[in-house]
Amino acid sequence: MTDTAEPTVFFNPLEPGYTENPWPHFAELREHDPAHLSPIERWFLFTYDDCARLLRDPALSVDDVNIEFHDEARVAMFEAAFDPEEATRSMLGLDAPDHTRLRRLVSKAFTPSAIAALRPMIEERVDAALDAMEARGSAEVIGELAFPLPFDVISEMLGMPEADADQIAQWSSALVKTLDPIISEEEVNAAADAERKMGVLLDEVIAWKRANPADDLLTALIQAEEDGDRLTSRELRAQVQLLFVAGHETTVNLIGTGIYELLRHPVQAELLRNDPTLDANAVDELLRFVSPVQFSRRITLDDVTFRDDTDQPKTIKKGMFVMASLASSNHDPAKWGPTAEELDLRREGAGQHLSFGSGSHYCLGASLAKLEAQAAIGRFVRRFPNAAVAGEPVWNGRINLRGLERLDVTL
Ligand code: HEM
Repeated sequence: MTDTAEPTVFFNPLEPGYTENPWPHFAELREHDPAHLSPIERWFLFTYDDCARLLRDPALSVDDVNIEFHDEARVAMFEAAFDPEEATRSMLGLDAPDHTRLRRLVSKAFTPSAIAALRPMIEERVDAALDAMEARGSAEVIGELAFPLPFDVISEMLGMPEADADQIAQWSSALVKTLDPIISEEEVNAAADAERKMGVLLDEVIAWKRANPADDLLTALIQAEEDGDRLTSRELRAQVQLLFVAGHETTVNLIGTGIYELLRHPVQAELLRNDPTLDANAVDELLRFVSPVQFSRRITLDDVTFRDDTDQPKTIKKGMFVMASLASSNHDPAKWGPTAEELDLRREGAGQHLSFGSGSHYCLGASLAKLEAQAAIGRFVRRFPNAAVAGEPVWNGRINLRGLERLDVTL
């Protein structure tokens, strides 16, 4: 290749087979063009070092108002479907000082002691799910464990009233599709519809909770106050929606795909089965290997040069939307060595994965997600040493929150 040659490889999640197995595509991108502007007006970064640097750079933004270069077709679909007056502004899309203020208020409910206190409730729920599976001798792991566990836990933490879980699950599923870099008009419309309906429900729930305070996260958020500062109603709704959706749409992929990978790696499952002290490292390694959230993003507020220590430096212009491939970083041999593509529950430094992002937006629910996954995955492999995948698992088809929709097993 001459130095004027156009790159020959672009990130293309529409390639056949990508959903089931995106890893070879990431390897190809890391090798041939690990930082590039894609035809959809977004930059993509694929190496560990570039992604870590992007996520940790305090001079970058997460606020969409700073995007100057747009995929016009995408913007037109979103503008037609979403009411800008109703736009929810969660901390995930806000910079300091708003981000700092909101995160500080919400963090009060996520202290290490508050999360540790949930352990008995989580283990009880896992055991109840496993009892039901054992009685039947077979299971559908996503519908019976990987989805309901984080969904019920975040609902209980928030103190949500009993609601139609299937309906809410359908709305969240439609909403998280907007995190994908490629989305159809139909999917944008479904997401906007889901957002409106979820908004109505959350407003009702918040009003009810104001009148019926209890010992739960929603009450804490309603009452959260610092230096006379409270969440406005709209801010409150946006944070609750974020917690509710982030609380289950991500962890389901860690538990579901994590169990699937252990069933495909029986030697590793056996290690875990025989050594409970491995639980924490095993979950970090599964977070690395599976990458339940495959991308995060930042927006440049100035021109920024990446890869300036290589013969292919790349300058990203101000106002660009940049996606960091957490998944590719987590499999980058330059960081993880020659075993990067292998599952090794005893891997040293597994916790350095980027699955929870990094920097000031580092996942607020990381310890909760790990606690749930340790309980669910550890207990599943110990209870069912003969478990085996039955038939073909079904992938959810998502580019960002990649995971399984259905995993049938015999026990
Ligand atoms: C395996 C499960 C999970 C994964 C892989 C995950 C991943 C992530 C990632 C990649 C980010 C963005 C970080 C960045 O850009 O630097 C994030 C942010 C966030 N996550 Fe999670 N998450 C998980 C579970 C949870 C749970 C259970 C909750 C809450 C109950 C949660 C709440 C949040 C919140 C509130 C933010 C926004 C933080 C901020 O903007 O400051 N997440 N998560």
